[in-house]
Amino acid sequence: MSKKIWKVAVIGCGMFAHAQYLPNITKETNAVCVAAVDIVVERAQEACEKYGIPNWYGSVYELIEKCDFDIAIDVTSIQAHHEINMAILNAGKHLISQKPAAPTVELLTEQIELAKAKNVKFVCVPIHPMRYDLNIAKQMIKDGTIGEPYYAKCNLSHGGPEYFQYRDADPSWFFEPGAGALVDMGVHGLQIVTSMFGPAKAFACMAKVTTPVREVRSGAYDGKKIQANKIPDHYVITLDYGEGKMAMVETGFSEKASRSPQLEIFGERGTISFTKPYMTNPVPEVYMDCPEKGIRGWITPDRWVNPPKKLISQCCCLRDIVEAIENDTTPVLSPEHARHVLEIMCKIPEAIETGTTIALETTF
Ligand SMILES: NC(=O)c1ccc[n+]([C@@H]2O[C@H](COP(=O)([O-])OP(=O)(O)OC[C@H]3O[C@@H](n4cnc5c(N)ncnc54)[C@H](O)[C@@H]3O)[C@@H](O)[C@H]2O)c1
Repeated sequence: MSKKIWKVAVIGCGMFAHAQYLPNITKETNAVCVAAVDIVVERAQEACEKYGIPNWYGSVYELIEKCDFDIAIDVTSIQAHHEINMAILNAGKHLISQKPAAPTVELLTEQIELAKAKNVKFVCVPIHPMRYDLNIAKQMIKDGTIGEPYYAKCNLSHGGPEYFQYRDADPSWFFEPGAGALVDMGVHGLQIVTSMFGPAKAFACMAKVTTPVREVRSGAYDGKKIQANKIPDHYVITLDYGEGKMAMVETGFSEKASRSPQLEIFGERGTISFTKPYMTNPVPEVYMDCPEKGIRGWITPDRWVNPPKKLISQCCCLRDIVEAIENDTTPVLSPEHARHVLEIMCKIPEAIETGTTIALETTF
């Protein structure tokens, strides 16, 4: 029997859709893109021309009314996500949402409940829990390679979307309420650390605005000045995991370049260090202290017997949702994990204002 070809609609035809989703839909799984949607209809039309997509629409509602599709990828600007996600789920379609899927924990819970009621699969990116290097490290930790892990240190920053990425769409919205460095970048660091250590018990945070006025450095808006003083752009977040265990996430639009490893995990018998770009599917570097075997130093891990799958693109989230639909399983990129990360991000303003440690309620 031939495999079903899943029909995908991409909503939001901006930088990331072009970089990761539109070119990779057919490469990642048995799927095809049947529609491109953007409120700036020229962008949807352009995507159709470039990738041979048969339908374009100017809104999610037009898509739902006129198009036969199975899965939507919401890759619109952050402030638009909740309304679009609710419309897609209400229409009984499977959904992949860019981060964060909603502005509050309560609204994300509404989306999760709606997906359950409609019996559709719901995937929330980023894609870090699907990473080759993180999954190898997880296995190493399980096997006792570094003993009991007690500290994870994550640095995930860049110089800002107006600086770091080539853009033809105006990036000003990244600095407006509802968006900002925390929900755009911090979400990655928090998802990475919680992928490795699980849900945190509590956290504290310090944050600053480092660059109140920014200048676009590429594309159609090159030279445009953006007021960027409403939301901090540099965060240091500490996560409490109970007795003897903690993590730190340093994140923002505040580091034009850095040589810090993206992630290091420290344990009683060693360290796992992630120094290479994760999309190259590297094996993490490992330091082992194993006196009974006479080992003390950086080692080269052997090839894995059953290695995790390597990533081709960030459109791997489509493979995740298709596997979840076809096998009726829970996706790896679960919305419950996204909700825990969202709870931390939503409570960060309170942590900054009060200078206190804030308890967390959600789990996954
Ligand atoms: N590595 C990553 O995970 C990564 C990197 C970059 C961006 N992103 C995320 O991808 C999303 C899009 O970012 P981008 O950089 O592509 O931004 P962008 O501004 O280039 O593109 C967003 C597009 O969405 C469209 N849009 C806005 N509201 C809409 C609506 N209501 N209906 C239909 N279209 C709408 C805009 O017209 C624009 O074309 C954001 O959530 C961002 O956080 C993720």
